[in-house]
Amino acid sequence: MMNFRSIHILESAQFDRDGVMEVISTARDLEKHLKGDEQGSLMKGKILATLFFEPSTRTRFSFETAMIRLGGNVISNSDMQHSSSIVKGETLFDTAKIISQFADVIAMRHPRKGAVKEFSLGSSCPVINAGDGAGDHPTQGLLDLYTIFKEKGRIDGLTIGMVGDLKYSRVFHSQARLLSNFKVNLVLVSPKSLSMPEDILGHLKSVGIQYETNESVSDVISRLDVISTNRIQEERFSDKSEFERLRRSFIFDKKLVSGARKDAIIINPLPRVDEINPEIDEDPRCKYFEQVGNGVVVRMALLKLAFFG
Ligand code: NCD
Repeated sequence: MMNFRSIHILESAQFDRDGVMEVISTARDLEKHLKGDEQGSLMKGKILATLFFEPSTRTRFSFETAMIRLGGNVISNSDMQHSSSIVKGETLFDTAKIISQFADVIAMRHPRKGAVKEFSLGSSCPVINAGDGAGDHPTQGLLDLYTIFKEKGRIDGLTIGMVGDLKYSRVFHSQARLLSNFKVNLVLVSPKSLSMPEDILGHLKSVGIQYETNESVSDVISRLDVISTNRIQEERFSDKSEFERLRRSFIFDKKLVSGARKDAIIINPLPRVDEINPEIDEDPRCKYFEQVGNGVVVRMALLKLAFFG
């Protein structure tokens, strides 16, 4: 059994199959109580600090909503890069020493892979990675698996396509790691220059996950139970002309999704830019707005597990 109590949640690799299922079942349970008072005081007297060094709409508010719904309080800085003592030259380690004296749990996002881990070394309270550069985004990956489980009733046996920027999207990295605990078939679709990092492919091989790669989504779409999409990650490109060349590699519109299974689901962590045409928003297979609500209960579950095991 995975022990969640008082641990930092830094990477998806920390989660084994039981760990993922425990988050899913805790979230399911909290969903039932979301509207009632029953869970409303679980975090009474506790403080969550959200420290964001990179833009966010959903993830920060989602953590904060989760904490507030459980009766806790929030202190927040959404612009750490420009308005914290980091500007004066304070190290992440020292900032962690300070913030962890104010807060009981910290959710942090940073543009550099590994920075949240570095920060956690100075923290005396649990730190949750809310996205570190092109590295990992474990809570998004968990809410994606929660969405898959909720919609499909299982994860084992599914054929899951990841379509887009497999190189830079931390969301795809987290999904791949978390899904590797299950018996899934992965179909990895990207331009050649944006393929999945070797360390993740190596991991998939080592645990016996079947995967195939392709550059064309229309070749594979009819076989997918889950179509996982994410924008090409503009901010990670050093060569902007390369981004411009690739930004419209995949566009999910009515024509493309007409080739998808009737019972498929389409997920996206949002923001969507080029890759999802709003003309498909009303298609019942599209779950990207539902995912946002799922994110709140999954983060409520993680907070509950962090404090009460
Ligand atoms: C994702 C992220 O920040 O990695 N967004 C999110 O957390 N919902 C995906 C993205 O920005 O493309």
